[in-house]
Amino acid sequence: MIAAPSVLSLDYSRMKEQVDELNASGAQWVHFDVMDGHFVPSLTFGPEILKGFRAMSDLVMDVHLMVTDPMHFSDIFAKAGADLITFHIEAVENEEDVRKLAAHIHELGCKAGISVKPKTPVETLRPYLNDFDLFLIMSVEPGFGGQKFIPESAQKISDLKAMLKESGSQAVIEVDGGVNGETAKICAEAGADVLVAGSYVFKNDIRRAVESLCVLQ
Ligand code: DX5
Ligand code: ZN
Repeated sequence: MIAAPSVLSLDYSRMKEQVDELNASGAQWVHFDVMDGHFVPSLTFGPEILKGFRAMSDLVMDVHLMVTDPMHFSDIFAKAGADLITFHIEAVENEEDVRKLAAHIHELGCKAGISVKPKTPVETLRPYLNDFDLFLIMSVEPGFGGQKFIPESAQKISDLKAMLKESGSQAVIEVDGGVNGETAKICAEAGADVLVAGSYVFKNDIRRAVESLCVLQ
C-alpha cells in the first residue's frame, strides 16, 4: 500500500520537525490539497508552499485540485513541482474537456488523476479508464480534514477496481477522507492502492501511523 499523508493536517508551527518525521516515516507520497474557496469553501495552499515542500522532501508530490478552474491551476502547480495532478470531474463540463485536461497534464510532464465526490457515481469515470494514471475516490465531502469515512465508499472502490481490470488499465485507485487504522483496512480489502490520511497521521505518531497504512496489502 502507498501512504500519502495529507499536509492539510500538518502542524505548521512545527513544520520542519514534522516534514523531517514524514521523510523518515516510510511514506512514499505527500498529498497536497489545493482549495480555491470556490469549488469548496476553504482556501489552502498556493504554489510557493509546494515549492517549499519540494525543497524539503524527495517524496512524490501528489496534488489534489479542489478548484473550479483546473486547467489554470494545473499549469501553476506543475511548474511548482507537482509529480501528479488530480482534478475533480465535477469541475469540468464535458467529455472533451476532461480528455483535454488529462492530455494537458501529461504534456506538463505530470501524471494525471481524476476524482469523484461521494455523491458522484463511479460510472461517470467509465469513459476515461484509459486516460488517467490515477482515480481518486473521495470518501468524505471535499473541503475539510477530520471528517468521518463514508461507508458506501467501499463499494465504489471495488466497482472501480472491476472496471479498471476489465478495461486493462494499469491506473491506481486512491482513497481520500476519514482514513484511519480501521477504515484503511476496509479500503485495502476493496482494492485501494493509495491511501490519503491527514488527521490520522499528523494527530498521532507520524511514523507509526504511516507504517500501519504501508503494511496493508
Ligand atoms: C478533504 C481533503 C483530504 C483531507 C483528508 O477535502 O481532500 O485530503 O486532508 O483529511 P482526513 O484524513 O483528516 O480526513
Ligand atoms: Zn485530498
